[in-house]
Amino acid sequence: MVCKVLLVGNGAREHSIAKKIVDNNGILYSYMSKENPGIARISKKFVLGNLNNFDKLKKFKKVDYAIIGPENPLANGIVNYLEDELKIPVCGPRKEVAKIETSKIFTRLLLDAYDISGNVPYVIGKTTKDLETAVSEFGMDFVIKPDGLSGGKGVKVSGDHFKKLTEAQIYVQELLKKDGEFLIEEKKKGKEFSLQVFTDGKNIIPMPLVRDYKRAYENEQGPNTGSMGSYSLPSHKLPFLNKAEYEKALNIMQCTIEALNHQNGIRYKGILYGQFMKTEDGIFLIEYNVRFGDPEAMNVLKLLDSDFNEVTQQTIDGNLRSVKFKDLATVCTYLVPKGYPTKPEKDKTITIEPSLTSDLYFASVYSNKKQIRTTTSRAIALVEEGESLEIARDKVYQNIDKIRGELFFRKDIGSLL
Ligand code: AMP
Ligand code: GLY
Repeated sequence: MVCKVLLVGNGAREHSIAKKIVDNNGILYSYMSKENPGIARISKKFVLGNLNNFDKLKKFKKVDYAIIGPENPLANGIVNYLEDELKIPVCGPRKEVAKIETSKIFTRLLLDAYDISGNVPYVIGKTTKDLETAVSEFGMDFVIKPDGLSGGKGVKVSGDHFKKLTEAQIYVQELLKKDGEFLIEEKKKGKEFSLQVFTDGKNIIPMPLVRDYKRAYENEQGPNTGSMGSYSLPSHKLPFLNKAEYEKALNIMQCTIEALNHQNGIRYKGILYGQFMKTEDGIFLIEYNVRFGDPEAMNVLKLLDSDFNEVTQQTIDGNLRSVKFKDLATVCTYLVPKGYPTKPEKDKTITIEPSLTSDLYFASVYSNKKQIRTTTSRAIALVEEGESLEIARDKVYQNIDKIRGELFFRKDIGSLL
């Protein structure tokens, strides 16, 4: 669909959204905090600025719609600003309903208030005594979370981030000082999966399920990262989930959207991403995100067979109908700087052979005298599709050697199921 689209954000997720907008005849206008060379190259116009400085968005008055990549501007009300001040329709939730990601306490309370299944047992902490309550209920199997966004760094899991109660006490005190409250959840054990949906606030259309690999090294070893890669299957499901479990997760999302509308009188529109865990006791909601996942966006957008600009505008107009995805597998693998995430080496040159055939998305890199250089974050994502997972995986790993630099990647994306 020919239209002018404003995209906010500058990671690999946004690069893949940008490509889809342009492939579907959109004219791209971008607002980035740092120049992503891939997005810049295909934008008609781009502006650099702090993504939470909405004043700069005035430079994009004449677009048909906007889409927001990362959660931070959504938390700060970018949709309210674009809709109310600039009269730009947005595929994304207003601040009041974006709370489903930006306040973990709000989400747990909402699920309880509307009797939605999949809620993890939790304790809302207002004093250090509440930690004792949580320990009496969950033993040492608990997770401490700040209420708000913490860039993936605030969630501390027992056995993983802390071993002793004294360490938990110190963290809880820190959170009380900073926020005045915290959340403790029972630690669940199982396999996580990502379910993203398009929604216009009433209709929801699921995207293929994706499994994301968060640990830095093979076999899910090493520190947590922003993610090292992801896969999806031609069935759009995952090998460890049965039909009833999948439907349960989807139903939890449907009920949540209805509850949000009911409680706030505001239609949730855009993308909702549920991160779930399958455990021996069933399906649990770990958290919601009010945007595409990174890297999950790259898997599902590779498969999207409908016009992206039409689908996004249907979520805005409230007439979301059908969305088609190809019945193929996908694999997305991240190349990251040596030492990432603990001691990443930066400012190293990356070279890309012209014979590379995979889709390539820049995450956090910069250009210097026509060279691409690394930062301290993830550098490049490669994405492939195939009739089977093996084919998609082989294609990615055949192409990965065509990227040279001080980088590493996980070799088991799509083989460790
Ligand atoms: P979140 O930011 O809430 O998604 O949490 C980050 C990560 O912490 C998740 O991807 C899980 O691996 C882990 N986690 C969060 N909550 C729980 C929980 N209740 N039980 C087990 N692991 C959890
Ligand atoms: N895949 C994790 C995230 O997007 O938050």
